[in-house]
Amino acid sequence: MTWLSDGDLAAVVAAHRAQTVGQIVGVAAMGGDLAAFFARCHGALAVAGENRSTSRAEPAPPVTDQIPAAAAAARGTDDPGLIALVDAFAALADRLTWRRREGLAGAADFADGHANADLIGPAGLADHDQVRLGVSLVAPGVTYPNHNHPPEEGYLVLSGGAWRQGDGPWMDRGPGQTVHNVPHIVHAMRAGPEAPLLALWMLWLGA
Ligand SMILES: [Fe+2]
Repeated sequence: MTWLSDGDLAAVVAAHRAQTVGQIVGVAAMGGDLAAFFARCHGALAVAGENRSTSRAEPAPPVTDQIPAAAAAARGTDDPGLIALVDAFAALADRLTWRRREGLAGAADFADGHANADLIGPAGLADHDQVRLGVSLVAPGVTYPNHNHPPEEGYLVLSGGAWRQGDGPWMDRGPGQTVHNVPHIVHAMRAGPEAPLLALWMLWLGA
């Protein structure tokens, strides 16, 4: 994205695009084929958004100590595109404003067992009026409880876990796999017992 002045962020977006647009992600997808969704989002990101200050706004929650362990899961694959993406992400993870999600009725270990950050979004390194790109981190054994939101969403998994939509079954998704959430669908995710869950999510805010 030529408008992105933050080189680390531009590298993440380019690697995410390479990993999602033009690939047959539907084979490993949950909730339908995400190829058109990701193509629409990356097409919109070609139009300039707003660059932001790269200074972190607040201290990161302690759970972010687990980012290296989560990144190791993606590096353990034989997928060079995914490894490039996680390396690009790891290069900027320390500069993100990581926050707890407030207002969800999770188990006692949820509050300190998760964190979210925008890469492109209101608290991100840049902002865009049609697309939001962010990341969720969930500690081993922790469940990120049911939530929903109007925008359509596509997850790209970096370190695996399980996802659930509505009252459906928990579905395991590993590094490089995807999850597609249609608007307003209730969804949850949880990390396995040993490794943290790390996933990039993209939201379509456009018309
Ligand atoms: Fe979501």
